[in-house]
Amino acid sequence: MAPVREQLYAAIDVGTTKVATLVARVGASGAIEVVAVGRASSEGMKKGMVADADALTQSVRASVRYAEEMLGHPIPSAFVGITGAFLVSENVTARMSDGGQQPVSERDVDRLIEDTVAEYGARRPVLHVIPRMYQVGGVRNVRNPLGLNGAGLATQAHVVYGAPEPIALLNKVMADAGVKVRGFIIEQLASAEAVLTADEREIGAVLVDIGGGTSDLAVYKEGTLAHSAVIPVAGTQFTTDLVIGLGITPAAAEATKLHFGSCDTMGVSEKESVNVDTGMAGHTRPVSCFHINKLLRDRAIELTRLVLFKLREGGFDRVPASGIVLTGGSANLRGLAEVMREYAHCRVRVGTPLAAFGLPDELRESAFSTGVGLLAWGIQRRHAGAVAPAITVSEPVSSKLRGWLASRFHWKRSEKSLSALA
Ligand SMILES: Nc1ncnc2c1ncn2[C@@H]1O[C@H](COP(=O)(O)OP(=O)(O)OP(=O)(O)O)[C@@H](O)[C@H]1O
Ligand SMILES: [Mg+2]
Repeated sequence: MAPVREQLYAAIDVGTTKVATLVARVGASGAIEVVAVGRASSEGMKKGMVADADALTQSVRASVRYAEEMLGHPIPSAFVGITGAFLVSENVTARMSDGGQQPVSERDVDRLIEDTVAEYGARRPVLHVIPRMYQVGGVRNVRNPLGLNGAGLATQAHVVYGAPEPIALLNKVMADAGVKVRGFIIEQLASAEAVLTADEREIGAVLVDIGGGTSDLAVYKEGTLAHSAVIPVAGTQFTTDLVIGLGITPAAAEATKLHFGSCDTMGVSEKESVNVDTGMAGHTRPVSCFHINKLLRDRAIELTRLVLFKLREGGFDRVPASGIVLTGGSANLRGLAEVMREYAHCRVRVGTPLAAFGLPDELRESAFSTGVGLLAWGIQRRHAGAVAPAITVSEPVSSKLRGWLASRFHWKRSEKSLSALA
């Protein structure tokens, strides 16, 4: 086999709360090592949409600059995560106009996908055409059509497209921030790449990436993506409920959620209270733990209903057998997985980038699922010979990630009981 050229790949997860940049080097042996990371808080995004292009450009620039400082030179063109309620997905059947060659070659399959992109792309920007099954001649449900004979090649594919304006605006933000976009990838597809096991994809599972601004769904069945959807409810709405319900500032509500919050109201007495910083001139006041948790629980129940609604919209009356896998920063909200288990009547687990990637603990964080998945998705499709899925990190990256995690754990709820904190 020809030696694999060493190459750099960059991924940028432009989230509602953070912009994370990851750069990986694929070595001559095909081994993948993350060699630079950057992170900046995200300004100017609302529910996955660009609300303030200048502010978001600054955030992307800052995140990329951190990664470039670590790298010592500019990052290469990047795979960029995209989300938002403007994305639409559809399962379609596409046929090759001229029936293709006999036996079916890789070129035929590529041409079938290109034709489908062209057909849909004439009306709106197409982000993905993901073949689920093929039909060769009269034979249906073929997973791998290569080498088969039969008149006519067709595929049942999952097509994701979006409104042109939001995509063009994100493209402009990236260009203004000095980033060359190598491809947009829907965030739940990236997260699923990093988090779902092969068995979950095969048996059927729902990945829900609950970030700050959106909860992104990807439903897998028989090994492939069967449905995708975006719900404009996520961590920010949990925080806003505390702002309104407790009469405190957004910053104080975010700190209260991270420090004390849980969706569990069972066994929490109404008399238990915590001193909450109102965010107003250093003023603190006691707030009932039950009240905090009830507000978060109500939002968690609503989110569960929306997940089930989106599943039904995609033709799934029941949650597939492997259940729901939660990821994204808000998957860390205490008691959320239990609420989903109770109301969706299925298995629910919290997923972090897979151990199968060989990742160190520092990258096995649910907030990094999209970033790791963007890298894995891009590298697997663009670099012949890469030894996916194993990914390691360089020592400077490892120590940077440990630093980020330490600052996040600062806000993690104390293991002491709430009454002891009151
Ligand atoms: N321990 C925790 N408990 C509760 N919520 C948490 C915790 N840690 C992080 N979060 C929430 O996670 C959210 C950020 O998650 P993440 O980094 O995945 O978002 P994002 O990718 O920037 O946003 P999006 O994907 O929606 O655009 C914030 O709303 C934050 O409050
Ligand atoms: Mg995200």
